[in-house]
Amino acid sequence: MIPTWSAENQERATALIAQYPEKRSAVMPLLYIASVEHGYVTDDAMREVAELTGLTAAQVQSVASFYTMYRRDPVGSYLVSVCTSISCWLRGADDVLAAIEDESGTLDGEMSENGTFTVEHIECTGACGGAPALAVNWELIEGVEPDKGRALIRWLRDAEPETISADEMQVLFGGQRSFEWGVSEPEGAIAPLPAFAPYGTAGEV
Ligand code: FES
Repeated sequence: MIPTWSAENQERATALIAQYPEKRSAVMPLLYIASVEHGYVTDDAMREVAELTGLTAAQVQSVASFYTMYRRDPVGSYLVSVCTSISCWLRGADDVLAAIEDESGTLDGEMSENGTFTVEHIECTGACGGAPALAVNWELIEGVEPDKGRALIRWLRDAEPETISADEMQVLFGGQRSFEWGVSEPEGAIAPLPAFAPYGTAGEV
């Protein structure tokens, strides 16, 4: 099969596989590289991961479809994920989600026509003490009220920040946090993917 990845990501893939006694164990980081390369996990990328790991395409697909953070469709530049599990729901998460949908013009589970936003509801992010919580490109904000959610969407649309920082968003749009003594992160996300420096998805704030 003709590789669909850049030379840089192919090098990353080769180095990753070499770290494992069994190359099939590299399936998850390889799927992450596929996401970095294409913005989501394409069918061709899954076939490529299968070839690299010795798994079948069906086995690779079963991993990619089990973990919801592997996207199977194109994602907007800003992935806005609103927690609607019990603690956040009790603290008004439905109103936050409705405000986000309205301000972005993007319904839950959809991507905006111009590709700026994808909006989704998610299960508990582990920030129940700071409910309601949401994440932009997996960078977390706690204590978000509907009006602040609207302001966040306007900020993303107008300022188009290249690096999404949890700390910056918390100051601008957040409220009560789970732990005020939480460790400050010097890096943020530069794509609608978790910020992992070895994979090139983290940027200095
Ligand atoms: S219920 Fe929303 S972070 Fe736990």
